[in-house]
Amino acid sequence: MDQPYPDPFTYDRPYRKVLAREFNSVSPENQMKWEFIHPERNRYNFGPADAIVRFARANGQVVRGHTLLWHSQNPAWLNEGTFTKAELRSILKSHIFTVVGHYRGQIQQWDVANEIFNENGEYRQENIFIAELGPGIVADAFRWAHQADPKAQLFLNDYGVEWPGVKVDAYESLAKQLLAQRVPLHGFASQAHLSMRYGAPDQLAGVLQRFDDLGLHTAITELDVRMDLPASGVPTAEQLTTQASYYKTVLDACLAVDGCNSFTIWGFTDKYSWVPVFFPSEGAATIMWDDFAKKPAYYTLRDTLRAARR
Ligand code: XIL
Repeated sequence: MDQPYPDPFTYDRPYRKVLAREFNSVSPENQMKWEFIHPERNRYNFGPADAIVRFARANGQVVRGHTLLWHSQNPAWLNEGTFTKAELRSILKSHIFTVVGHYRGQIQQWDVANEIFNENGEYRQENIFIAELGPGIVADAFRWAHQADPKAQLFLNDYGVEWPGVKVDAYESLAKQLLAQRVPLHGFASQAHLSMRYGAPDQLAGVLQRFDDLGLHTAITELDVRMDLPASGVPTAEQLTTQASYYKTVLDACLAVDGCNSFTIWGFTDKYSWVPVFFPSEGAATIMWDDFAKKPAYYTLRDTLRAARR
């Protein structure tokens, strides 16, 4: 909705061809978010997400569902409505039962809770459910999602968790607490939206391992590697080499951890990347150029995956 272009999935045939050929797991970038799938209080809009799930099935791909409890991209009726606590709770509950139930048996992993902590490890009060109902709503969201689709693996998902720190500590203690309460939490995911301004995430394997040690799956869910573009707008060869090495660092981290079995990049062509829209002056964050020509990062990921399969 904030994108300056239409959903490529619906009209770009070369895009669909590459998507079908190169990947065995897909994730809707926007189409399962509240503002898209639940645009009015009494109306759901499943069409665009259904098309993605159908495409995945036709191409033998699994699907990651994204997302159920988030502070962002919620519809105006929810953000601006005035609800009692009981109403808000029942709105979330019926949303989760309706959406997760609609895709029952067809989603491998759901990002149940997205970005629920601030950088300082405190619950994000921008999340209206957390602000109004308290952090206990997170456990309820997992319970409801599990009832609606007992086979889906249910995840916590966030950015800024690629290095150890208070945010990772907050997730680790939440995960321990939920598991101790027998809440159906199955995984912890790092989005991995990286910028070459901040260095490669060379401690990521260690972070994922802490969650693996709790018996959880781990995943990389939204990897991209943005860079400051030169005045020409075209990355240098050196920037592309560095970018490839960041992609490899993240894939190696996932491969090093037993229960890290899901690896998703956030778009595969710069043609439709969210990065230039959200990070002015940065770009070129994906593994393919606008015309789907492959960057060094593509070949590095391919070679690393091939080597790991042996
Ligand atoms: C982004 C999408 O890529 C954009 O198209 C949209 O306008 C805003 O959201 N973390 C998330 C994703 O969990 O849902 C976000 O996706 C990127 C950051």
